[in-house]
Amino acid sequence: MTAVDDRLSADLVLELEPVAARELERHMATAKEWFPHQYVPWSQGTDYDGEYDGQGWADEQSPIDAVARTALVVNLLTEDNLPSYHRALSDVVGRDSAWGEWVHRWTAEEGRHGTAMRDYLTVTRSVDPIALERERMDHMGRGFSSNAERNILTTMYYVSFQELATRISHRNTGRHTSDPGCDRLLARIAADENLHMLFYRNVMAAAFDLNPDASMEAVLEIAENFAMPGNEVEGFTRRSFTIAMAGIYDLRIHHDEVLAPVLRAWNVWDRTDFGPAGEAAREKLSEFLVGLDATAARFEDKRAARAERAAAK
Ligand SMILES: [Fe+2]
Ligand SMILES: [Fe+2]
Repeated sequence: MTAVDDRLSADLVLELEPVAARELERHMATAKEWFPHQYVPWSQGTDYDGEYDGQGWADEQSPIDAVARTALVVNLLTEDNLPSYHRALSDVVGRDSAWGEWVHRWTAEEGRHGTAMRDYLTVTRSVDPIALERERMDHMGRGFSSNAERNILTTMYYVSFQELATRISHRNTGRHTSDPGCDRLLARIAADENLHMLFYRNVMAAAFDLNPDASMEAVLEIAENFAMPGNEVEGFTRRSFTIAMAGIYDLRIHHDEVLAPVLRAWNVWDRTDFGPAGEAAREKLSEFLVGLDATAARFEDKRAARAERAAAK
């Protein structure tokens, strides 16, 4: 491995700053202002038990099926853990210059997602608000940890993939709810996630050109160890399985719609600027993706067989 030491990381932060500035400017010109309160059907709201002595939440009040609820809760808890992500980013790029401006802006936009989703789910009684609050406390208490070593390359390559993964997860969750209001809200949030992905992906395309070998090694490390940001949520493995069985987010999507297009955007397969370390990492990545594709296919087969058995019953 080409170690990305503190010095290289600091140099890259400086070298990439003009690119971050340009991408921030593009982002600000493209991003649309929107307001969480306009996405929430307040007239559906009624008092809860407690201070207002209303009706406590009960399962049958939820207009949304259990699978979509699982995805909604995991996605919202993921958004809630924002302070830890803010720290993970600001630790590597600092809080000055265009980098700092971006990190603050990004944080503010992500904060809007959690606000909007929580208001929507609470007013419509879609999920248990007490369980949700307890889980938020638990999840935030665990912070956020990444399997990868923390430096600008691993962190920023990770978020490039993660923003796209989150976009797709929100979008598919919205569709799965069969609730037009919830679908509209999640489509709105997904549009933000797409712009976030573009920022990171474009900045990191420049990082690839500046430092191809270290970039390729970092991308390999991230691809091999990728875990969704909400992986610290209690019961994440079980819940991810539910989400994958519903086709909201599974290995096929991860391989075809997240890893493949972002890697193509960095021209990973056709680059001619690698040294031996970059070549070796690209080779390993290619092998890894073949394995992932096969695992995804096996999962799809199992899921189809299970659906057939269920239909036959
Ligand atoms: Fe978000
Ligand atoms: Fe995002």
